[in-house]
Amino acid sequence: MDAPIIEAEGLTKRFTSRKATVEAVTDLTFSVAQGELVAFLGPNGAGKSTTLRMLTTLIAPTSGRASVVGRDIAREAAAVRARIGYVGQLTSGSFAQRVRDELISQGAFYGMAKAAAAARADALVESLGLSGFATRTVQQLSGGQKRRLDIALGLMHAPPLLFLDEPSTGLDPQSRANLWEHILDLRREHGTTVFLTTHYLEEADRYAERVMVMDQGRVIADDTAAHLKEHLAGDAVTLGLDSPGSADRASSLVAEVTGREVRRVDATTVAVHVADGATLLPTLLRRLDAAGVAVVSATGVPPTLDDVFLALTGRTLREANLSTADAQPDTDPVAASATAEGGDR
Ligand SMILES: Nc1ncnc2c1ncn2[C@@H]1O[C@H](COP(=O)(O)OP(=O)(O)OP(=O)(O)O)[C@@H](O)[C@H]1O
Ligand SMILES: [Mg+2]
Repeated sequence: MDAPIIEAEGLTKRFTSRKATVEAVTDLTFSVAQGELVAFLGPNGAGKSTTLRMLTTLIAPTSGRASVVGRDIAREAAAVRARIGYVGQLTSGSFAQRVRDELISQGAFYGMAKAAAAARADALVESLGLSGFATRTVQQLSGGQKRRLDIALGLMHAPPLLFLDEPSTGLDPQSRANLWEHILDLRREHGTTVFLTTHYLEEADRYAERVMVMDQGRVIADDTAAHLKEHLAGDAVTLGLDSPGSADRASSLVAEVTGREVRRVDATTVAVHVADGATLLPTLLRRLDAAGVAVVSATGVPPTLDDVFLALTGRTLREANLSTADAQPDTDPVAASATAEGGDR
């Protein structure tokens, strides 16, 4: 068996400013085998980007250690960087360069021969839908086009290990599908290991063979999507009501019929987890109808990774994202210089 391509032990990152200390990542220990495709999930502020930035040597851990492609991230940072690809969460690129030239320069930076770099640039331009923009400068691209260029830059030299921070965020559905085709091709052709973050749970579910869930700086689950959902056997039944006024009544009736805890998703939506949604739904609807509670929509679906997160933390990813919406990095000069250190924010 080959040695793991990523090995992290007790990786911890604290950001300290005069006002406060944020422990972004706490005591992270894990390893990734060569060729794995790992999706790293978690709400805003969970510590995903910070983990990636430590593993890619952009920021130094406060404590702990890691080796990436067999090199120590602290002592052999340059060797690590030469052997990995990294696409950060925010766009990069030299604004005045033309798209195709930017790609070719990236290839040259990684030591590709000129002809090979040009051929690879053309193939990536074509498949990421940048053909119409290949001679435009980076600053003339839209957000989604820039994102596609970022990804093409990360894919240029086909490194053995690729870190992608939210590669699909901001892409239209067609571009997302193309991106995934690319990632899967890379693995097929080169056995590339891919470690990526995403907020699209269905993507993680469908493509990743391993899902790591992070919350508040700690990994709280690490398994295949199928295993993670297994212990949640059953269906998530969701009912949409015609007015907020009937939510209390609906909740208590649903609890009575199912004997399960009912969750208020929002003012007019209640949800419950049951063993067999398909057979329960008709009974539930008749009972609510008889009590004069108007139901405008009803679904009973197998659990998703969001249900996994809910089971683990007691809140959905959406709720977790909302609760951290105003807890972004502050603008204190000390924190700001820590931010600038990474250069990808
Ligand atoms: N340079 C910094 N200075 C201070 N705090 C920071 C800095 N970078 C990140 N943080 C804090 O560390 C925590 C983790 O941030 P991180 O960017 O790793 O989250 P994330 O999981 O990538 O979230 P998102 O899904 O929003 O991208 C957050 O609380 C964030 O505010
Ligand atoms: Mg992030």
